[in-house]
Amino acid sequence: MTLDLDQHLIDATNAVAAVGDLDGLQRIEGELLGKSSVVNEARRSLGELEQEARKQAGRRLNEVRTELEKLLAERRVVLEAAERAAVLEAERLDLTEFDRGQRLGHRHVVTQTWERLEDIFVGMGFTVAEGPEIEDEWHNFGALNFPPDHPARDMYDTLYVDYGEPGSTLLRTHTSPVQIRVMESGEPPIYSIMPGRVFRSDTADATHMPVFHQIEGLVVDRRITFGDMAGTMDAFTKAYFGRDFASRLRPSYFPFTEPSAEFDILRDDGSWLELAGCGMVHPNVLEAGGLDPEIWSGFAFGFGLDRLALMRHGIDDLRELFRNDHRFLSQF
Ligand code: PHE
Repeated sequence: MTLDLDQHLIDATNAVAAVGDLDGLQRIEGELLGKSSVVNEARRSLGELEQEARKQAGRRLNEVRTELEKLLAERRVVLEAAERAAVLEAERLDLTEFDRGQRLGHRHVVTQTWERLEDIFVGMGFTVAEGPEIEDEWHNFGALNFPPDHPARDMYDTLYVDYGEPGSTLLRTHTSPVQIRVMESGEPPIYSIMPGRVFRSDTADATHMPVFHQIEGLVVDRRITFGDMAGTMDAFTKAYFGRDFASRLRPSYFPFTEPSAEFDILRDDGSWLELAGCGMVHPNVLEAGGLDPEIWSGFAFGFGLDRLALMRHGIDDLRELFRNDHRFLSQF
């Protein structure tokens, strides 16, 4: 019997090694450990032996059974891994086979404009800053030299947020509050642009949206002049539009700049489109930002980012940008 079992183990080892898949392994497992297997047959005939021989044979049978179980388990690990690998290989997706004719998404034309503007100004040595869309009254108005209840506040159809004291919190109506935040955060020289989303309770029309984008510019240094401002705006618009176009600076009023101007460009139909407000930073604003107006001077401008996109791409209705009509947007 001992010899038989040794031979049996050798046979079993060969059979298990030869099996190529999990179904085959299942079958062999039945043959080696099932009811009519060699080990179970042998166990049944133990009763015919003398007590001492029975003990020995029983122990040997257990060993063999354990050995068989180990063989089967090891083979199962190997076969399972092979099967998983085969499934992975069969289900593999080759993403490089993606049909290039299919439509991929792309950046929205406003985002493209935003990034292009940042590139131009960064190329001119400006840094990019950002501020919160939900602002406090101080940054949006007070620090920008709008006295309380001053009629200039009515220039902005402000959307107030129901938070804190009534009137204390609002959706910023322009990116100019970021000027104050930039001044608060460090010493001049400041050469920064501040792109962002702004909000006014305007009715949407061809040139207005209740949510739109501006790109603010702020320069604060020693001996900065109105000429520096005009030159910077001209250099920027030339870099952006890349062609000859007519622009003009027209006297205007903003509480936070003195003198103030409006920057218009000439449209194909002969009308002027207002693209930016600008001016020399008012001394009160420098002071509100913690800077000494005896030492520092500067200029600021605020371009309508969406309008820049309109002009550049020859789009005649601002609302088209935000209708999310794929057929329209995919052109840019
Ligand atoms: N914040 C002004 C507006 O939204 C634009 C502006 C910016 C004017 C900077 C002057 C200086 O109308």
